This record gives sequence, structure tokens and C-alpha cells, in this order.
Amino acid sequence: MSESVISPKKVFITGASRGIGAGILKQLAQEGYEVMGTATQASGVLKIAESLAESGLKGEGLQLNLSDPASIQACLETLKTREWMPDILINNAGITRDNLLMRMSDEEWHAVIHTNLTGVFQLTRGIIRSMMKKRWGRIVNLGSIVGSIGNPGQANYCAAKAGIEGFSKSLAAEVATRGITVNVVAPGFIGTDMTEAIAEEHKAQLLKNIPVQSIGTPEDIAHAVSYLVSEGARYVTGQTLHVNGGLYMN
Ligand SMILES: NC(=O)c1ccc[n+]([C@@H]2O[C@H](COP(=O)([O-])OP(=O)(O)OC[C@H]3O[C@@H](n4cnc5c(N)ncnc54)[C@H](OP(=O)(O)O)[C@@H]3O)[C@@H](O)[C@H]2O)c1
Repeated sequence: MSESVISPKKVFITGASRGIGAGILKQLAQEGYEVMGTATQASGVLKIAESLAESGLKGEGLQLNLSDPASIQACLETLKTREWMPDILINNAGITRDNLLMRMSDEEWHAVIHTNLTGVFQLTRGIIRSMMKKRWGRIVNLGSIVGSIGNPGQANYCAAKAGIEGFSKSLAAEVATRGITVNVVAPGFIGTDMTEAIAEEHKAQLLKNIPVQSIGTPEDIAHAVSYLVSEGARYVTGQTLHVNGGLYMN
């Protein structure tokens, strides 16, 4: 953590039970931040606390379902009651419900838009006021390469991720004078449960198109997040940082 940060900052990371969120949680805990990560199930909450403890790190888990406004409200109440309103918010949690557009159900569309976009809006709205009072804050939202380039079978997911970019730029402009930055980290192809389902032959084809010639890791994304939340990144806001091994160069 930057030397100019006086007290440990509180970081709240959604979807920290596995994949990229778990990587960010661990990286920031190692850097000395106070971390709290979320999972949709009590078992995931336990897993967060256990995996941090196993690595000799401090931090805890909290239950949150971004597709349920009541769960978001309950989470915000818990943060307020415990005086744990975060200085840094990482909107990482996300889902996919892939299908070709002509076959995509309303349920598949709404599930992705609700969890990946509306949930981010509702949670951020509940947290931004305390950052504004402190006149310091960092928000990093997880986008995706496909929010910029599109992907067949992912119209819902790409719409949500492109929406995250517009949302982040607008909020960045609204809160810039309060010492709060809002940025997007847009991963390419990262090895997690989300990409596990991709067929091996499609993965091999994808790999051929990645100039760095490897699939990214949650740690690759965590390092980008670590920079954006640092004191040194105070002048970087409203940006999308693409972390994709050169797969897309914008
Ligand atoms: N992996 C990639 O290649 C890739 C590429 C581009 C962008 N991204 C983005 O990066 C972020 C993390 O992806 P990942 O690959 O790490 O995903 P992942 O391995 O599938 O993990 C998803 C995380 O989100 C949580 N989550 C799922 N539904 C939720 C809900 N309704 N409310 C709250 N939390 C929920 C999960 O919690 P549970 O364990 O409780 O289910 C889990 O912690 C996502 O926003 C994703 O869109 C990933």
C-alpha cells in the first residue's frame, strides 16, 4: 500500500468466494488493506474467511445476492451498523447466461442485466454517500473485453458490461471533486469457473489469438485493481483498463 495512506483502508469486494474476486481479496489483504468479500451462500462466506486464515491474512466474508434488492439492502444495513462503510468498493461479482439472441429467454436477459448492472448500481448508490463525506474513495468495476468487442451468444452479458463502462464514466464525472475515482478493469480470457465451461477446442482457438499466448490468471487482474485503488492512481478516473494479454488493443 502507498506510504501516504495513513490508516488501513476498508475494501469491500463482491463475489470474492472464487475466481477473480478471490484473487483481488487475497492481493489486497496481502497489501495491508482491511478486506471484506461477499458470497451468495453461507458456505461461500465461510470459505472466504477460511482461505484468508489459511494464508495468514485478516478479513471476513458477508452474504450478498446482487439479484435480490432486499439482500443488497440488508448488506448495506450490516455495513452501516458495524461502521464498516468501505473506502474502496470492488464491484466484481458477475454471471453469464449465454444463448444466441433468437433463443435468449427474458429470464436469461434479466438475470444478467440485474446481477451484473442493476445490482452494481444499487450497491454503489448505497455506499457512495459515505465516500463523499470522507472526500476519498475508490471504485473499481469489473467489465469485460466483450463489452467493447461483443461476442456471439452473449448479447445480455455484453450489454451489461458495456453498460458498466457508461455507468462508471458518468459516476466518475459526478464524484471527481470529492477525491473519488471510478474505473473499470476489463479482463480478457481469465482461468476461472466462468471460463471453465468453454469447450477445449474453442479455448485452443482463443489462445491462438492472444499475443501473450497464455490464459490470464485472477492475480493478473488483481494487480491492475491494486494499482487503481492506490493513492498513486488519484489522477486516473473514468478509464477502462484492459487486461487481456493483447487480445484486444483499443
Ligand atoms: N473469467 C473471465 O475470463 C472474465 C472475463 C471478463 C470479465 N470477467 C468478469 O470478472 C468478474 C469475476 O468473474 P469470475 O470469472 O471470477 O467469475 P466466477 O469464477 O464465476 O465467480 C463469480 C463470483 O460472483 C459471485 N456471484 C455470482 N452470482 C452472484 C449474485 N447474484 N450476487 C452476488 N454475487 C454473485 C459468485 O459467488 P458464489 O460463489 O456465491 O456463487 C462468485 O464469487 C465478473 O464480473 C466477470 O463478468 C471475467
